[in-house]
Amino acid sequence: MSFSNLKATKHLKKLAESPFNLKELSPERIAKFSAHNCGYKLLYAAERITEEVEIALFELANESRAHEKMLQMQQGAIINKIEGYPSENREVLHTATRDFFENPIKNSNSIKAASLAHAEVEKLKSFMKEIDQENRFKCLIQIGIGGSYLGPQAHYEALQLFGRKDRNVFFLANIDPDEVVSVLQQVDLSETLVLVVSKTGTTLETSTNEALIRDHLQRSGLNPQEHMVSISMPGSPLDNPKQFRACFHIWDWIGGRYSTTSMVGAVVIAWACGFDIFWEFLKGANAMDKVALQGSSKENLPLLAALLGIWNRNFLGHASLAIIPYSQALRRFPAHIQQLDMESNGKHVDQRGNLVDFETGPIIWGEPGTSAQHSFFQLLHQGSTIVPIEFIGFANSQVQQDFVFKNSSSQQKLLANLFAQMIALATGQSSDNPNQQFSGNRPSHLILGEKLSPFALGALLAFYEHKIAFQGFIWGINSFDQEGVQLGKKIADKIIQLFQKQGHYPLAEAYLKEL
Ligand code: F6P
Repeated sequence: MSFSNLKATKHLKKLAESPFNLKELSPERIAKFSAHNCGYKLLYAAERITEEVEIALFELANESRAHEKMLQMQQGAIINKIEGYPSENREVLHTATRDFFENPIKNSNSIKAASLAHAEVEKLKSFMKEIDQENRFKCLIQIGIGGSYLGPQAHYEALQLFGRKDRNVFFLANIDPDEVVSVLQQVDLSETLVLVVSKTGTTLETSTNEALIRDHLQRSGLNPQEHMVSISMPGSPLDNPKQFRACFHIWDWIGGRYSTTSMVGAVVIAWACGFDIFWEFLKGANAMDKVALQGSSKENLPLLAALLGIWNRNFLGHASLAIIPYSQALRRFPAHIQQLDMESNGKHVDQRGNLVDFETGPIIWGEPGTSAQHSFFQLLHQGSTIVPIEFIGFANSQVQQDFVFKNSSSQQKLLANLFAQMIALATGQSSDNPNQQFSGNRPSHLILGEKLSPFALGALLAFYEHKIAFQGFIWGINSFDQEGVQLGKKIADKIIQLFQKQGHYPLAEAYLKEL
């Protein structure tokens, strides 16, 4: 049954007519609307829900069989499909890339996938030994775009403080020639390892940048094969040992944006931070995978977050969602979640190909606090659009080296600001001066950890992956394909051909004439 026709949807629509007034935020409410699991607390008293809404949201999860679908996903059922139409028709098994710890999922598809993924991890371990013994590479350039860039970059940067100080990482994603120049200016190619990462091995930006760097290596008198490593699907144009000193694999059952825990993110993290850090990161992701299977209760943190998001999107009508980590290490995390969420749930048909008559994924964006407070928080507090916020915070700093100034530490100041923003957004302020009035009732919640360790980072990544998947299950859409990126790519290819034919700047008119 479609999302719009579910009994719980109708009930929630009624309840949304009088959402909770956040000006009544109280300590009891904060205690009541909190859940914890896997080292995280989810504090959601500042969402406009009541107990009745919470119960109805879990009814929605049950009616749409969200929990059952999560189990099917992790067991390797073919869920990346649109019934009755040509579609990717694949399993969705990114969880298998970290399912080698306690109680692995038992199903032939997932066991096979996990054993393939585990073999790549073993291969990575020996590769790292070889590279460490050579002691030659001081820089690494990762060439790749989309999921082959955003997740690896966000998570490498989040773990950078644990990394080796003598190793520098650069990412080359855009096809903009200025980016190539900028990266080349910062590295000595003779000491540089180059990872070429593309699941398909055919992405325009990545193949172009690979060719450019290969050419620069050759022109510097270096052997590209000694410097370059590829990560792609078996049989892809990049899966070629003649051109790469090592070829790591991913498979079609791992979506690009879900590939951070595969070799796509593994090689750069292990090289920069060490294999053990990467291993802990995988363990954290795996632990949250298990949380997502825990059933339909608030301890299932990704499911709870998915439901809160649906409340804001479908019942309170908020079109946008800001992700604000109070952790500088997570500076690129919102950009990764932006792709993860918008490429997954920015869909207009359901799994049977019918146009949906309800809203799907919101517009995702964000920057770290407190910097964001001095930028766009004005609009969040007093603008005419209400933007719900997901805050991310940690009780302790990452490396426990804090600084006391005026009797409080920097970490305390950071957290004080986070809590202050949540309270100000929720409760607002009345004033005789209209310009100093704050309407309040601007919803948010907080996912709070102890410290951003490699384990906690893995758990946070999987928390978001599963939150997004749960929302897709509840909406009945396919969160695992990305047809929406194809049309622009096709037109760009044709315009490139016009450039080749005409040798000068081809105007859009020239393209439209050829249509
Ligand atoms: O264009 C979108 C996309 O297909 C993303 O889904 C993907 O993460 C990105 O391009 C890169 O793809 P690949 O890893 O195959 O180069």
